Amino acid sequence: MAGEGLAKMTTYEKWLQEEGIDVVGGYMVEDVRTVPLKPWPRKGGFGVHIRLIGAEDCDAAYVCEIPPHGILKPQKHLFEEMILILSGEGKTEVWNEGGPKVTCHWQEGSLFAVPLNAWHQHVNTGDRPARYFAVTDAPPVIDLFHNHDFVFNNNFVFSDRFNGQTDYFSGAGRMLDEKTWDTNFVQNVETFDLRDYEVRAKGGKSIKFELASNTMIAHISEYPVGVYKKAHRHAPGAHVLQLRGKGYTMMWEEGKPYQRFDWHRGSLLVPPRMWFHQHFNTSHEPARYIAFRWHSKKFLPGKHFHEGENWWISTRLGGHQIEYEDEDPRLREIYLEELAKEGIPFSLDALLAGSDKD
Ligand SMILES: [Fe+2]
Repeated sequence: MAGEGLAKMTTYEKWLQEEGIDVVGGYMVEDVRTVPLKPWPRKGGFGVHIRLIGAEDCDAAYVCEIPPHGILKPQKHLFEEMILILSGEGKTEVWNEGGPKVTCHWQEGSLFAVPLNAWHQHVNTGDRPARYFAVTDAPPVIDLFHNHDFVFNNNFVFSDRFNGQTDYFSGAGRMLDEKTWDTNFVQNVETFDLRDYEVRAKGGKSIKFELASNTMIAHISEYPVGVYKKAHRHAPGAHVLQLRGKGYTMMWEEGKPYQRFDWHRGSLLVPPRMWFHQHFNTSHEPARYIAFRWHSKKFLPGKHFHEGENWWISTRLGGHQIEYEDEDPRLREIYLEELAKEGIPFSLDALLAGSDKD
């Protein structure tokens, strides 16, 4: 029969259905800390898959919760996985087949990556639920091989990434350049020391994490009270999770209306491919987020998993960043109105003027 044997869904889509938990879509998740979860047979805890439009299945996210003093089922898989602990305290045992177990002790704010295809088992050692947020490259891996046994029951050991080192999760690391920290464990992303980075926000700070020799990375960005970042656009898949403050993000396709997304601690947003996005801080404290995305600088991915071209270069010079002086004045008017409602002074101009005097 014509059409017989032709797929109507991707292997990843079928796998999501088989998982038996909800899948959240759209442009953002208002709060990963409170998003409802369902019992998750594969993990032995509770969870929800997150498949936002801007990810385009080049990567994906999920939230998982471990009951008080609970232990999840051991897992291993052929896709990378970065984990941010949202609440609770516990540990993750990690081992290669037949190798020694190495323990990662974590608490709220801890960030680490499960080494590729290593066995791992999460344990909640506390009296309250432990919830974590994860970003993976499961969609391309599951789609490419379309064989769950290969992806979830593969005995290959990536000893170049993890070889049973007892100090693997000690938190030690090294700076690869002025703002890239190469490590396997970050104790607390909420307090981790950042470096000055003003390419996209006056007074801005940043740090980039290369984790577990992954091809995916994470970075933190922070910008001051009364300041907004410059708009820019790039490749899909950057999962932006708010760690501190509140505000809103304007997102738009060139020539189309602005779409506004209000956020606070716990909100998750993924800007779609080549949509401009601009973050505005309307809180009384610096706004801080962590983004999970492609593009390790240790293991450069090809253009298909690239972060995008020239997103830090002015649109006037052929790049994809709108400098403050080139932006639509209406965006600033809206911001000033929002600051006035909160009684927060506008600091950006004073900061910019200060830098002119240097
Ligand atoms: Fe961005």
